[in-house]
Amino acid sequence: MAEIEIARQGKVQTIRFNRADKKNAITRTMYAQLASAISGADTDESIGVSVILGQPEVFTSGNDLKDFLAAAMGGEKGTEVIDFLRAIISGQKPLIAAIDGLAVGVGCTMLMHCDMVFASPRAWVQTPFTDLGLVPEAASSLVAPRIMGSHRAFALLAMGERFQAQQAFEAGLVNEIVETEDLETRAMDAATRLAAKPPQALAISRKLLRGDRAEVIARMEEEGALFAERLQSDEARNAFMAFMQRSKKPDAA
Ligand code: COA
Repeated sequence: MAEIEIARQGKVQTIRFNRADKKNAITRTMYAQLASAISGADTDESIGVSVILGQPEVFTSGNDLKDFLAAAMGGEKGTEVIDFLRAIISGQKPLIAAIDGLAVGVGCTMLMHCDMVFASPRAWVQTPFTDLGLVPEAASSLVAPRIMGSHRAFALLAMGERFQAQQAFEAGLVNEIVETEDLETRAMDAATRLAAKPPQALAISRKLLRGDRAEVIARMEEEGALFAERLQSDEARNAFMAFMQRSKKPDAA
């Protein structure tokens, strides 16, 4: 079974995380598949909109911490993460997300680049960057304060507070909270309606709404350089080791 499942419903491309046993943690291979699906839509006229979906109670727990640990130990980092971030920041087609359950790290920050986000009542978002010895990524340090104001952005990105669905909605990160059983239908309905609109008018409107992408890409790269430095820090290495040891315990839930 593919860990990123790509499917099509009319002009809507669905991209689904499918690694539930690891809480949909995103590996380098998965990032590459995500990037290819999202940027592939730009040049495929048969795709109007992409929708990112997870599994019951798990959107994604963010970057695979084993990959972080490998990078922290001097391993090759690759370009998959940056390719994915470029795709969601600069992609030409609308992107919708439906989140049920946990959305951690990049699982949260990617939502800031989606055009619409639907959440179940049991959805929550969190970015434990500083606790991991890291810094915000995906240009979230620029975009989050614009979405939710600087105080809430600080609580989310630096304090590492968990925002439950209602809080995420009030912060402007979520369009609508939808009953769990209706979540994907609601997201697909929005996507289908969007995909039926005159594509050029929609593309121009979206471009105006999204503003200057160069600024966002520049911040993503600035954060990326700091993030790469932080990955080599003792703070980060110790945090990754602690997580790995925790998940090795026989009684770890
Ligand atoms: N990277 C690698 N593996 C991960 C992971 C991640 N980001 N998130 C979860 N997993 C794995 C766990 O190691 C565990 O694997 P195992 O069964 O082989 O031991 C499995 O997924 C289940 O996770 P577990 O921690 O037991 O689930 P939980 O429901 O108790 O907690 C989370 C869920 C998401 C709160 C917790 O797993 C977590 O904090 N993960 C790390 C999130 C993170 O820091 N992401 C990076 C942000 S920058």
